[in-house]
Amino acid sequence: MDAAILDVSVATPKYYVKHEELAKARGIDPDKYRYGLGCWEMAVCSPGEDAVTLAAQAAFDLLQRHPNVADQIGLCVVGTESGVDQAKPIAIYLHQLLNLPKSCRAFEVKHACYGGTAGLQMARAWTQQHPKRYALVITTDIARYERYSPGESTQGAGAVAMLIGSAAAEQTLLTLSKESGVHANEVYDFWRPTYQSTAQVKGKFSISCYLDGLVEAFEDYKARENDHTEPDYFLFHVPFPRMARKAFRRLSDHKGLNYSDEMIENVFENKVEPGLWINRRIGNIYTGSLYLMLAGLCEREGEKLRDKRIALFSYGSGSCSEYFTGTFGHNLPKPHLHNILNWRKEVDVATYEQLHDEALAMERNQSLRIELEDLQHPFTFLGIRDHERIYKRNDLAIQSTSAKDNDSISPTIRAC
Ligand code: CAA
Repeated sequence: MDAAILDVSVATPKYYVKHEELAKARGIDPDKYRYGLGCWEMAVCSPGEDAVTLAAQAAFDLLQRHPNVADQIGLCVVGTESGVDQAKPIAIYLHQLLNLPKSCRAFEVKHACYGGTAGLQMARAWTQQHPKRYALVITTDIARYERYSPGESTQGAGAVAMLIGSAAAEQTLLTLSKESGVHANEVYDFWRPTYQSTAQVKGKFSISCYLDGLVEAFEDYKARENDHTEPDYFLFHVPFPRMARKAFRRLSDHKGLNYSDEMIENVFENKVEPGLWINRRIGNIYTGSLYLMLAGLCEREGEKLRDKRIALFSYGSGSCSEYFTGTFGHNLPKPHLHNILNWRKEVDVATYEQLHDEALAMERNQSLRIELEDLQHPFTFLGIRDHERIYKRNDLAIQSTSAKDNDSISPTIRAC
């Protein structure tokens, strides 16, 4: 029995804006966003949503599908760079909102977009030591840049929750390689000072740091792991989808595969694109974007993934990179990723701008706001009062969500 990912679920905010509309509003050729960056739609938070509620929604959905393990969760680790407090971790809000057992380690991990992978590796080691217990790893983020900045089109928001446990291949989704290749390197490519709600970024430099990290981490992996067969699929950290194309090209060139432009398009289409489509429609979710791609792959390929091998690359600015591999198991129930996309509402650019500015103002002004509409969600962020963040678990909304067809209403989705 190996410690493995047993299941995964995704939550994304209620709203989204189309890149085509954003491009028009910014006087930019829409093809730059669609083809140059590979972005189609960008998730936008409604006022009652934040990194905590998104995480709660994703994890809640996961636990609903595994009611027997809920009281054996002994570790709840959240990877995020959208922390809501310098001391109090998102994990402890989740512990309360999800009624997790008292005997549970709950904490937050940070290293930019790498935090989720750090949490996942920690959870694997922990479940290996505690084979009868389970761990929850949740990645949750709101990617927010200044309006009109080059990063604006690469925003997004969402959470991915993963259940980790020790199991035989019949019960696992994905077993990860024992060895990883890692590379740490101090750089200022992308960061968010504690006094800012939006990120600082040196765009082109960040891309070269990512690609350098990929090659270094791959080399480290090669030195540690004996299996050098070409994986069937590749998953990358996806700040914007075209980055996955750049990464795949760099890695293939580095391995000396000598793909022509035409060949690489074909291989990319078969080995990378099957997961990437969902990132095109949600945007960057920082810590979760690699695992969002995993969910996208499960949705698209389903049972075809049985016993297939994948490579995963995680990059966190600042920086830390990790390259590892995995083998799919036999627990690949048909996912319903399209539900989340159907559940969302499109907003126009003016509404997105208003929501973007309001979210920043609320963090600054510490206001309490309650929207009747928001209270229909299972988990709602009501606002800040006396420096305390107030969340509401709405059991009526939870009951109605559970009672109705999961496929038609749930804001969370069954990914795998
Ligand atoms: N039609 C088709 N393609 C077009 C086009 C058009 N009309 N106009 C431009 N393009 C292409 C360009 O040729 C370019 O392609 P290549 O990269 O292949 O050369 C692409 O569109 C982007 O154009 P620019 O480089 O001119 O775009 P930009 O200056 O607006 O910046 C960016 C792009 C640097 C990614 C910017 O969006 C940004 O800073 N994003 C945030 C930082 C980021 O995502 N960094 C990634 C690595 S760091 C990381 O991974 C951590 C993380 O999550 C943030």
